[in-house]
Amino acid sequence: MFWDERPVLVTGGASFIGSHLVDALVAKGARVRVVDNLSSGRFENVSGHIRADQIEFVRADLTDPGVADEVIRDRSIVFHLAADHGGRGYVDLHQAACGSNLALDGMVFLAAKRAGVDKVVFASSGCVYPNHLQQDPREILYLREELVGPPYDADNMYGWAKLMGEMTLRAYARDWGLKSASCRYFTVYGERGKEDHAVIAMIARAFIRQDPFEVWGTGEQIRNWTYVGDIVSGTILAAERIDDGTAVNLGTMERTRVIDAVREVLLYTGRHAEIRLRPDMPTGPLNRVADNSLARRLLGWEPTVDLISGLHRTIDWYFGTKSDPDDVRSYLTQALTERKPARQAVPIELHPAPAVASTRSDA
Ligand SMILES: NC(=O)c1ccc[n+]([C@@H]2O[C@H](COP(=O)([O-])OP(=O)(O)OC[C@H]3O[C@@H](n4cnc5c(N)ncnc54)[C@H](O)[C@@H]3O)[C@@H](O)[C@H]2O)c1
Repeated sequence: MFWDERPVLVTGGASFIGSHLVDALVAKGARVRVVDNLSSGRFENVSGHIRADQIEFVRADLTDPGVADEVIRDRSIVFHLAADHGGRGYVDLHQAACGSNLALDGMVFLAAKRAGVDKVVFASSGCVYPNHLQQDPREILYLREELVGPPYDADNMYGWAKLMGEMTLRAYARDWGLKSASCRYFTVYGERGKEDHAVIAMIARAFIRQDPFEVWGTGEQIRNWTYVGDIVSGTILAAERIDDGTAVNLGTMERTRVIDAVREVLLYTGRHAEIRLRPDMPTGPLNRVADNSLARRLLGWEPTVDLISGLHRTIDWYFGTKSDPDDVRSYLTQALTERKPARQAVPIELHPAPAVASTRSDA
C-alpha cells in the first residue's frame, strides 16, 4: 500500500488544513511527523494523535538554522503547508510577514533536495492567479491553471511567494529530479477553521448576534469556497499521482456571492440582522472561481461536499464547540486582520523547543 508505514512530514500540521491532512494520513497508516511553530496553528488540533502516540510532534520554527534539515532528514514525502498566512485582512495588510514565506519555502525545498526525499507536495493557492483577470463579478470565469503566466500579477506578497514556490519546485523537478506537486487551494472552510477567513468570520458574527452584521466589500464578490475534506483528499491524490511539479487547482466550481453565503448563515442560524456593507475593508479579487477539470483528469478528484451542506456542517461545529459569545466578541476584530491563535487550549509551554524538540522520546 502506498501510505502504509510511509514516513511523511507535514509542515504546519497543527493548522486548520494541516491537521485534517494529518488525520487522513494517520488513518491511511502513514508514519506522520508534524513540525509547527504554533504561530497560528493550534496544539489542540493534533493533541489527540500525540496523546495516542500516533504522530510525532516537533515544535520548531522552520526558518531557524538546521531545523528543516533535521525534520526532513528521514522522510519520504514532505507536505509543505507551513506559511505565514491569514485571511484577506492579513494578506492585504502584512506584506513583509507574507514575504518571509519566500525564505521559509526556499529552506524547506532545499532541505528536501539535500535529504533526497521522494516527493514534496506544496500547499499553493488561488492567490497565484493574475489579479487583473478577476475584477468583474459578472463575468462567468473559471481560472484554468495555464492562466498563471506572463504578465504575472499575483495577489500580494502572499501570492507572489506561492507562485515562486511553485516555480522553484518545477525547476527542481526539471533540473534536479526532485519530484513534486503543487495544489492550488481555493478559499477553504470547515471544522477547525479560524475566524480570520470569511466563512468562519460570518459564522462567528452570527454566533455573537452581531447587528448590524458586517460584510466586507460590496457583498457582490464571487468565491468558490471548498470544503476541507475535499482539499485533503485532493492533496493526498496529488502526492500519489503527480511527479513533475505540475500545479493543480483544488476548488469547487460553485460560484457564490459573498452576500448569498451571509444570507445562508443567517437563515441557518435563525438570526435576523441588518446587513452593513463595508467596501472600505479588504475585499480581495471580485471574481475568483477555479476550473477543476485538470484535477479531475490527473487525479480522478472531484469535490464531494457542496457549499450548503458544508456550511451547515461548519456552523454545527462552530456552535457546538464555542460556548461564550463574549469570549468570541473579545477577539473577533483582531482575528480578522492578525494571525495569532485566539486560544491555545493546551499550554504550549508543556512542549518547550530549543532548536528541535519532539514529543517522542525515540525521535
Ligand atoms: N485556508 C485557506 O483558504 C487556504 C487557501 C490557499 C492556501 N492555503 C495554504 O494552506 C496552508 C495551511 O493553511 P491554513 O489555512 O490551514 O492555516 P495556517 O495559515 O494557520 O497554517 C500555517 C501553519 O504553519 C505554521 N507555521 C507558520 N510559519 C511556520 C514556521 N516558520 N515554522 C513552522 N511552522 C510554521 C503555523 O503555525 C500554522 O500551523 C498554508 O500554506 C496556506 O497558505 C490555505
